[in-house]
Amino acid sequence: MISTTDMTRSQIEALLESALRFKHGDDVSKPLAGKSVAVVFFNPSLRTRASMQVGIYELGGNAVVLEPGGTSWTLEHRVGAVMDGDKTEHVAEFVRVLERYCVAIGVRTFAALKDWQEERTDPILNAFARYASVPIINLESAMHHPCQSLADMLTIREKFGAAKKRVVLTWAWHPKPLPMAVPNSFALAAAQMGHDLVIAHPAGYELDEELMEASRQVAAVSGVSLEITNDIDAAFSGAEVIYAKSWGAKQFYGNTDQDIATRAQYRSKWIVDEEKMSRTNNAIFMHCLPVRRNVIVTDGVIDSAASVVIDEAENRLHIQKAILAKLLGG
Ligand code: CP
Repeated sequence: MISTTDMTRSQIEALLESALRFKHGDDVSKPLAGKSVAVVFFNPSLRTRASMQVGIYELGGNAVVLEPGGTSWTLEHRVGAVMDGDKTEHVAEFVRVLERYCVAIGVRTFAALKDWQEERTDPILNAFARYASVPIINLESAMHHPCQSLADMLTIREKFGAAKKRVVLTWAWHPKPLPMAVPNSFALAAAQMGHDLVIAHPAGYELDEELMEASRQVAAVSGVSLEITNDIDAAFSGAEVIYAKSWGAKQFYGNTDQDIATRAQYRSKWIVDEEKMSRTNNAIFMHCLPVRRNVIVTDGVIDSAASVVIDEAENRLHIQKAILAKLLGG
């Protein structure tokens, strides 16, 4: 479960239906009874970690939470590495040992924001996949955050049913560059689910080109539109879903100071506020969290009835139970 790239709409729909059955108590099965699942975090987390631990427990299983370099050894992932530096264990042993205990391994490994061309290939996540014979679940890599995007699609489905919506993914100013896995995966999943998608960002903050091409092709097959604009005001007009996220410019990977200097001009304009929301078609407000209040979104918006961010976070639990049941329930 690396991304939704190869999933059909009907496969995504089936996961959403399964998640709703878990959420509403119509499915209380325990497909993980007597089994353990490892969740490996190279980076911090609240939602992903807590919802995976709780979800595995609710499916009858046991979560083994590991933090390389913290509660477990530092990890090398490069093939042929001469390990005379600060890395103690290789992913080759780490994975093959873990799968003697666990039926699946979840991995969180963010972009380091140093070299996009390398990081977009998700080398650490793929090292896990290379050595594993059990399912690997992406808990956010440099390129993708499928558990988040599927929870997002579940949230839109809950609020609006299966109807096509005008969905706006908007960049927002943040004091430092952030990874782009969430917007990449959201854009792809929105197209896969047949929504008209508008992506608003300042020039220079384009999402991954290959991912965008895949999303365009999916949108064309689905008969929906995918528009990219540098005009945040125009983007909000008529929107039914506003999804805010900040991300770093690919061109400035390895040069954080230049990104910070460049983005300074967008601080006052690229924020989700009451004025912009008032020009939407009663849009809901979404964000994956954590979010910086009065930076990405004003208190007035995130505390309004339009905000569904807590439902969205709750849905991480239900969709991940659906993913785990699908991967491991057989
Ligand atoms: N949205 C999300 O993945 O949250 P965490 O980083 O807290 O896990």
